[in-house]
Amino acid sequence: MKKMTLVLFLVMIVPCHADNAVPHLPKQNWSFNSAFGTFKRNELQRGFQVYKEVCSACHSLKRIRFRDLKSLGFKESEIKTIAAGYEVKDGPNAEGEMFQRKALPSDAIPSPYPNDNAARATNNGALPPDLSLIVKAREGGADYVHALMNGYIDPPAGIVIEGGRHYNQYFPGGQISMAKPLTDGQVTYADGTPATVEQMSRDVSTFLAWAAEPETEQRKQMGVKVMAYLLFMTVIFYFTMRRIWRDVKK
Ligand code: HEC
Repeated sequence: MKKMTLVLFLVMIVPCHADNAVPHLPKQNWSFNSAFGTFKRNELQRGFQVYKEVCSACHSLKRIRFRDLKSLGFKESEIKTIAAGYEVKDGPNAEGEMFQRKALPSDAIPSPYPNDNAARATNNGALPPDLSLIVKAREGGADYVHALMNGYIDPPAGIVIEGGRHYNQYFPGGQISMAKPLTDGQVTYADGTPATVEQMSRDVSTFLAWAAEPETEQRKQMGVKVMAYLLFMTVIFYFTMRRIWRDVKK
């Protein structure tokens, strides 16, 4: 019986070890991961800057409206200025024509391409996915996005890279149609933080984790309030019960 269990155990674990094409994702220490964890406002703002100045050239972020950026610690006036830096299509006007106007805080962040075909045509046939939910859509979440940004290495001997592809050790299959998007010093952070690839990857992954679940902090805060309330009521009920029984016992 013992032998059978051992054999079964080996059968279960051996295939996992044989399949080591994609290395394990390095686990990062995220401030937002624990039960009471929160996002750091400066990390979120830097991450948004990386998205805006680098990733948004190819990736949309359709589920985020400019006014949502309030959670990143931006003031109303700052959000208006950020929005006004973008143009959106609106209409039709009284003449029945569509027109371009400056974006408002109530608008969603505009996509870089008018449609998926246009996106594919400029990216060698590959579609840069919308990043709104990417942290939820990929196993490993923020760890995966972070690893992907740092995972560009020379291909192992014998691997032929197809045209327009790049070798990334964390991308399933290894060949990705996205060129290494980050290089040291690519953005200039307002708070003076050195913009290394590692730093920008951390910040943009944090920002995308927020984007995938902007309500996560409120949810956690609500959880804390509910727990505090329940604790308080437990204490009240305990003393009430003692009081009642004291009279009964007498
Ligand atoms: C020049 C265009 C371009 C830029 C800039 C760019 N990407 Fe991409 N990205 C792509 C394309 C194209 C794909 C699809 C790759 C594929 O399917 O092979 C992609 C795919 C991805 C994926 C999904 C990988 C997967 O598992 O399917 C993530 C995550 C990603 N990009 C994050 C980013 C981040 C974060 C930035 C900014 C730091 C960024 N990208 C900048 C073009 C770009």
